[in-house]
Amino acid sequence: MRQNKVLVPTMGAIHAGHLSLIEIAKNYSTEIVLSIFVNPLQFEDPDDLAKYPRSVEVDTKLALGAGATEIWAPTIEEIYPEKVITLDSGAIGRKYEGAGREGHFDGVLTVVDRLFKHVQPTYAIFGEKDFQQLFIIKKWVKKSGMEVEVIAAPIIRDIDGLALSSRNSRLSAEDRKSALVISRALRQATHERSVESARDRLHDVLSSEPSFQLDYAEIINEDNFEPATSARKARALVAGWVNGVRLLDNMAMSVPAPVIS
Ligand code: PAF
Repeated sequence: MRQNKVLVPTMGAIHAGHLSLIEIAKNYSTEIVLSIFVNPLQFEDPDDLAKYPRSVEVDTKLALGAGATEIWAPTIEEIYPEKVITLDSGAIGRKYEGAGREGHFDGVLTVVDRLFKHVQPTYAIFGEKDFQQLFIIKKWVKKSGMEVEVIAAPIIRDIDGLALSSRNSRLSAEDRKSALVISRALRQATHERSVESARDRLHDVLSSEPSFQLDYAEIINEDNFEPATSARKARALVAGWVNGVRLLDNMAMSVPAPVIS
């Protein structure tokens, strides 16, 4: 019989968000493998790949300290020993995050496939911060009949509201203030009563910060990633740049309680 094993896939630069994934993993198994691999296939911009923070030694200490039982930091050759045929993330992989980053989700699926084949986990934990990634991976796992259960982990925010991300370390104090427009816009938009007003509020708040360069902001339906038509199962997505640092975040619409007459 296969022993339960949880995989926490990461690209390193471990922060409290990753540690929260390890905490969740403990509910599923005593065997927790945390992988660290900066996957070149999912970076369309060589500069972004070069600047991606790398700190395997510190990461290892942090992850083991938090309860991971094995750290796997493979080389490129281990992951891609032969010519790579990338997996296809489909139409949803070319929207939003995938529209401006050609091949990004194909690269994500390709590496996740390799990680799963190597580790053979029973469970794999992915953060909701990369909501589109989570959606695409879940769909692909279901379609391919893989025996891995994908577990979604909630977004972890700093006290000021900024969603934790390895890229945040590249923000100056000033940039960080500007970046807070994202969580502010999401909070306000998701408390609107309709998706139409949520969309308007999202764009209004985001455009109030001159240092924020918008890539996309949309309210989508969580079941199909189409623009939402009602607040039920709707989620606001935002991505953009502050001083050259790419940031993304999302938040579920808080559906108002039904009025009982
Ligand atoms: O979310 C990430 O850190 C990466 O996209 C993942 C899932 C580890 C694949 O490289």
